[in-house]
Amino acid sequence: MSLRWKIFSLYFVILIISLASTGLYLYGYIEKSYLDNVKVNNLMQANMISNFVARFVGTSSSYLIEPTILEYAKQINSRILFTNVNGKVLVDSAPSKEFEGKVINNYNDVKEALAGKGSTSIHDINGVGWAMYTAVPVIAKNNIVGVILISSSIDNVINLLNSIKYRMIYTFTGIGIIVSFLSLLVASYITNPLKRLTEATNILSQGKLDYKVDVKSSDEIGKLANAFNKMSFNLMKIDEERKRFVSDASHELKTPLASVKALIESLINSKNQDVNFYKEILKDVNGEIDRMTRLVNDLLELARMDRMKTAKVRRSEISEIILDVIDSLLPVAKTKDINLEFKGKNGVFAEVDPDRLYRMVYNIVENGIKYTHHGGNVMVGLEEDEDNIYLTISDSGIGISEETLPKIFDRFARGDTARSKKSGGFGLGLSIAKEIIDMHEGKISVESKVGEGTVFKITLPKTKKN
Ligand SMILES: Nc1ncnc2c1ncn2[C@@H]1O[C@H](COP(=O)(O)OP(=O)(O)OP(=O)(O)O)[C@@H](O)[C@H]1O
Ligand SMILES: [Mg+2]
Repeated sequence: MSLRWKIFSLYFVILIISLASTGLYLYGYIEKSYLDNVKVNNLMQANMISNFVARFVGTSSSYLIEPTILEYAKQINSRILFTNVNGKVLVDSAPSKEFEGKVINNYNDVKEALAGKGSTSIHDINGVGWAMYTAVPVIAKNNIVGVILISSSIDNVINLLNSIKYRMIYTFTGIGIIVSFLSLLVASYITNPLKRLTEATNILSQGKLDYKVDVKSSDEIGKLANAFNKMSFNLMKIDEERKRFVSDASHELKTPLASVKALIESLINSKNQDVNFYKEILKDVNGEIDRMTRLVNDLLELARMDRMKTAKVRRSEISEIILDVIDSLLPVAKTKDINLEFKGKNGVFAEVDPDRLYRMVYNIVENGIKYTHHGGNVMVGLEEDEDNIYLTISDSGIGISEETLPKIFDRFARGDTARSKKSGGFGLGLSIAKEIIDMHEGKISVESKVGEGTVFKITLPKTKKN
C-alpha cells in the first residue's frame, strides 16, 4: 500500500471513529432528554389522577371515579386504566372498555406500581404506534388500593427523534465525505514530493548524476530534497574528478611512451653503428621508463590510500624521520648548492605511520629544493605541545602565484612556472602528501609569495582519535 493510501486510511479510520462516537453520544443524549421529559410529565399526570381517585375509593362518592377518569383521559388524549389492588381493571377509558374486568397484574409496570413504585415503559404497539405506559399506585390511608395506568402515544416524540437521527446521519456522512476528500488532497500534498524524490533517485541511479529535484518546502521533506541535491552535486564532482584523473593519468603515461617509441624508432632506422650512439639513446629510454615507473608508483600509492582511508600508526620519533628525508635529499640539494637544514626539536614522538610520514615530508622538501634557485635555503622545523606536533617546511624559492595556490593539492596540479621550467613533476606529490595528512587527521596550510619563497605548516595530533 502506498504512503498516500496509508495516510488516507489513517485519516479515514480516525474520522469514522470520531464521527460515529460523537454521533452516538449526541443522539443518545438528545433521546434521553426528550424521553425523560415525557416520562416526568406522564408520571406527574398519573400521580394527579391517582391522588384524585384515592380520595374517592371506598367512599360514598366512589361513583365519581369513572366519569372523572373518562373526562381526564379525554383531556390528556390518553387511555387510562384503573385497577384494584389485585390488578383487576375497574375502569378502562377506551370506548371499547376492552380491559374492564380483566386482571393485568402480569404487566411489569402494574407489578411495580402495586409494589409502591411509579414506573414507565415504552412499547411499539402493532398497528397503533409508539406508546408510553405509566403506572403509579393509588394510595388511600397509607394502603395501596389500586393502580392508575396511563397509555399515551409518543409517536410525535419518536418521529422527531427519528428525524434528528436521519439529519445527523446525513450531516455526518456529508462531513465524512468532504473531510475524506480533503485528507486525500493532504496525503497527495505530503507524498508528491516523496514521489518526485523517488523518481530523482531512480534517475540518479541510472547514472544521471547531476539530476536535481525541485522541492521548495522547508519541512523535513524539503530538507531531504536539499540533502539529495547536495549528494547528487557531490557525486557529480567526484565523478568528474575521477574522469579527469583517468584522463590526466593516461595523458601523463602517453607522453613518455611516445618518447620511448620515437627513441626506439630512431634506433631502428639509424644506420649509425656507433655503440655510444646506441647507449645514449638507451639511456634516454631508461630515463623515460624511470619516469613512467615513478608515475605508476605514485598512482598505485594514491589508489591504495583511496581504498584505505586510515593510517596504521605506531609511536615513532619524528625528528628521526625528518633527518632520514634530509639525508636522502641532501645530494640533490648539493647539486643546486641549496642549504638544506633541520632546525627543530629532537626526541619528539607521535603515533604515525612512519613510512607514510617519510613520504609526506619527502614530497614537500623535494618541492622546496625543486622550486628554489641555486644557492637558496630549505628549512625543516619541528615543534610540539601536549596534543600536537608542528612541522614547518620553508624555502626561499620561486613562490606560488595566488591563482595556483588553491589548486596545488589537487591531483595533477602543476603551476605554470613549474611547467615552463619542465620540472618533470606530475603534480601528484602534494596530493599524496595531503592524503597522508588527512589519514593522520592532521592539517596543512601554505603561505607563499612569488619570488620570496613558500612555507608549508603541518599540524598532526600526537595520538589518533579512533
Ligand atoms: N615549494 C614550492 N615552491 C613553489 N611552487 C611549489 C612548491 N611546492 C609546490 N609548488 C607548486 O605546486 C605544484 C604541485 O606540486 P606537486 O608536488 O604536487 O607536483 P610536482 O612537484 O609538480 O610533481 P611531482 O611532485 O608529482 O613530481 C608544483 O607543480 C608547483 O607549481
Ligand atoms: Mg612535487
